[in-house]
Amino acid sequence: MPNDFLSFFLSWMSSPRQVGAIAPSGAALADLITREISAATGPILELGPGTGAFTYKLLKRGVRPQDLTLIEYGSDFMKLLQMRFPGARVLWMDAAQLATHRLYDGAPVGAVVSGLPLLNMSTRKAVSILGGAFSYLRPGGAFYQFTYGMSCPVPRPVLDRLGLRAKLVDRALLNVPPAAVYRLTRRPQLKIVAGSVAPGSSTRVAAEVDC
Ligand SMILES: C[S@@+](CC[C@H](N)C(=O)[O-])C[C@H]1O[C@@H](n2cnc3c(N)ncnc32)[C@H](O)[C@@H]1O
Repeated sequence: MPNDFLSFFLSWMSSPRQVGAIAPSGAALADLITREISAATGPILELGPGTGAFTYKLLKRGVRPQDLTLIEYGSDFMKLLQMRFPGARVLWMDAAQLATHRLYDGAPVGAVVSGLPLLNMSTRKAVSILGGAFSYLRPGGAFYQFTYGMSCPVPRPVLDRLGLRAKLVDRALLNVPPAAVYRLTRRPQLKIVAGSVAPGSSTRVAAEVDC
């Protein structure tokens, strides 16, 4: 929406590091980051929705409003989201606190869509956010993150620590500025059947970082 540019710009002026962009994401990036999601994905956790550029696209893809939980730290954005998406659960909170709130019973979430400016955050904060989000993701679920950087916005040591792997989904060259989307998933656990490792023990595959 045209008005979103002004409200986004004003928010960026007051908290540039937290907002992380001077304008909302465009249609090409919204298309890309939601490309693998449909109504069948089930509950979706969106982090840093801002004015809702990705949220609108998720609804267009058939995601039910009641399957959407939006986590936003900017109070003006939060009020706007509550008005725009009355059927969704909109929470005013720091995404780094995900693990300390019980947002779901168990881990039913099919996908996390993140617009958070991860590159502006400390490693400690990024670990809290990813750890919290993955605690709600069901097996096989994916965390989608965009970046304006040239490589994966989650450094290799963080992926190793959390047992995750990252794969480039694609680049949205038409976005201003051009952006890329990465899919983060849990590394599969491999059973060791022979050798010196005790029977029944498991190990993780090496990091597969496509960055
Ligand atoms: C780069 S903007 C992306 C907004 C929107 N997803 C888009 O693509 O247009 C980052 C958003 O993350 C929010 N944000 C930043 N840090 C956050 C945090 N710790 N917890 C929740 N939201 C946060 C900002 O308020 C802002 O709305």
